[in-house]
Amino acid sequence: MSTPADIPPFLYGTAWKEERTEALVEKALAAGFRGIDTANQRKHYHEAGVGAALAKAFTGGMARDELFLQTKFTFRGGQDHRLPYDPDAATGEQVRQSFDRSLEHLGVERIDSLVLHGPSRREGLGPADERAWRAMEAIHGEGRVRFIGLSNVSASQLDAFIELAEVAPTFVQNRCYASRGWDAAVRQRCDGAKIVYQGFSLLTANRDALARDSVKAIARAHGVTVPQVVFAFARQLGMLPLTGTSDPQHMRQDLDSLQLTLGDDELRTIETVGL
Ligand SMILES: NC(=O)c1ccc[n+]([C@@H]2O[C@H](COP(=O)([O-])OP(=O)(O)OC[C@H]3O[C@@H](n4cnc5c(N)ncnc54)[C@H](OP(=O)(O)O)[C@@H]3O)[C@@H](O)[C@H]2O)c1
Repeated sequence: MSTPADIPPFLYGTAWKEERTEALVEKALAAGFRGIDTANQRKHYHEAGVGAALAKAFTGGMARDELFLQTKFTFRGGQDHRLPYDPDAATGEQVRQSFDRSLEHLGVERIDSLVLHGPSRREGLGPADERAWRAMEAIHGEGRVRFIGLSNVSASQLDAFIELAEVAPTFVQNRCYASRGWDAAVRQRCDGAKIVYQGFSLLTANRDALARDSVKAIARAHGVTVPQVVFAFARQLGMLPLTGTSDPQHMRQDLDSLQLTLGDDELRTIETVGL
């Protein structure tokens, strides 16, 4: 599905940036990113660092409505000791506590997208998944979040969520492997259910496939880099891509890839490069 008009075409990811989070989000905003992805999971993200950068941006005149802010609720198993909720509280209450802390960390009154970071089990869904989703639906119903979504789901888990959802997921955020046809099975479900597919690790999960001569030749033909080709490919396939770059030059190159259009043959070459 193509991305709704008021959602930016590229998300800047803030994982693994620790004490550099604030400065890198500032640089990403300066480069032109308007979509920021974070999580209330201190193990991998520093959500308050994102908030510090946002506070500076707002002071500098940026309006809240110019930004698309996405965060996540993470079950206990994906957290370290720095929990954003009471581990003894019921799942729904944990979702609420985590979300309230996200609002505090980010210094905003509403968030654009709240994503369930991953199901509670590797296969299928458990009772905690439905309880977490219901709590997310309730927060959505209160108007405190515009969209709710899922992450790290298989095609069958996505089917199960679509079945139980009263408020349909707007996003699925998954690691996107070329060896699985760029997550073809999940993307197909997303297309059918009008869900926007957010792809991450587009570069880091596909190093071998992207080192192929056929991909390099496409980059050469357009006078761009292989990462730019990959992001253009992702967008033309209907994905909302994420980048986690820490390099200001790469930030600009990633955004410049929005101007690049690949031909049908080139898209087919990349689509099958990892199979
Ligand atoms: N839902 C989840 O479970 C989950 C899991 C992982 C990630 N995420 C989200 O997705 C975001 C992105 O993660 P990711 O795994 O895709 O990225 P990442 O691991 O942060 O890595 C991006 C890599 O690509 C390189 N890169 C980016 N643009 C480039 C360019 N134009 N030229 C050359 N190299 C370039 C970066 O190097 P430089 O820094 O040198 O540019 C970096 O090594 C995360 O920050 C997080 O927000 C979500």
